[in-house]
Amino acid sequence: MRQSHHRSVVLGTGSELPARVVTNAALEELVDTSDEWITTRTGIKERRVLEEGKGNADMAHRAAVRALHDAGVDPKDLDAIIMGTVTADYPFPSSACVLEDMLGARKAFSFDVNAACSGFLNALAVADSMIRTGMIRHALVVGSDALSRLLNWKDRTTCILFGDGAGAAVLGSVNDGHRGVLSAKLRTDGSYVKTLYVPAGGSLKPASAETVKKNEHTITMNGKEVFKVAVRSMEEISREALDEADIDVEQVSLVIPHQANLRIITALAERLKIPMSKVMVNLDRYGNTSAASVPIALDEARREGRIRHGDIVLLNAFGAGFAWGAAVVKF
Ligand code: COA
Repeated sequence: MRQSHHRSVVLGTGSELPARVVTNAALEELVDTSDEWITTRTGIKERRVLEEGKGNADMAHRAAVRALHDAGVDPKDLDAIIMGTVTADYPFPSSACVLEDMLGARKAFSFDVNAACSGFLNALAVADSMIRTGMIRHALVVGSDALSRLLNWKDRTTCILFGDGAGAAVLGSVNDGHRGVLSAKLRTDGSYVKTLYVPAGGSLKPASAETVKKNEHTITMNGKEVFKVAVRSMEEISREALDEADIDVEQVSLVIPHQANLRIITALAERLKIPMSKVMVNLDRYGNTSAASVPIALDEARREGRIRHGDIVLLNAFGAGFAWGAAVVKF
């Protein structure tokens, strides 16, 4: 248990989903798959796809404006913008810089965090540490990804899983040891880099006519391996985060897990002995939105009245790297 009385509290949340809906039936037209297979193996029914000509920061901006409005915080009062993403508008600079300009958040320093589906958890942990040390007072933490841009729409093992979206939370410093982010734990295992990755487009293999021809700018994944390690790792790190916060699993009001696969979520809930009635699920509508999945679900949970004052919420995520994390937040 941490000794400091300065904590970061969630002052507001917001999210954005692109308008274009792609149903499982629509995917049946693209690859050899079926609504029945996708639904039973993943729980996903439809996902959103960002329109052409728009970038990640456009979605992040809408989510951020809603979160700032919800929090009652002016963009000019933000000290930091930290965005979890693997689909920034440009190879550099960061999408957080693009977002800073869109918001007119002139006082803030801004940067992206690359931790794939765990990006929001990593960004949250960084912002929380900066707030607790007194370095900053207000942070905008964002998870925003447009994985549709990295999909091979001819690969049925990956294109059915992912969708686009953005979620944001405004964190503020309070002098109250009893609420806010009670703990945050992060982990990686780099021996799994090639289990889930985009082979080309980085410094090792820059874009060329050949990499494009060989489809090396799209997601390559061993889904079975991801599944196995995801359940085990999210259980372990959730328990560590709960232990550090001195919270028993029975005290948790709601779990907000990364939305990758309903079977991963139900296996995790079983292992943690948490009933599914206490677990947030929205992947049927959005698929796996990478770094955006946890903050979108958090925002929906708050708007649906599923999080009340004093509630203890467990967030957890797992993704490429492998990178994973968990946080316990008291509202
Ligand atoms: N439609 C129809 N059939 C499909 C299919 C699809 N979209 N994708 C794969 N199949 C086929 C396979 O080719 C295989 O056929 P075979 O038995 O003839 O070889 C069969 O279905 C079973 O495939 P398998 O890979 O064993 O299925 P699975 O039950 O492991 O489910 C995933 C596959 C990808 C849904 C699952 O492994 C998963 O969700 N993993 C985690 C992935 C993830 O979350 N990644 C992101 C992490 S952030």
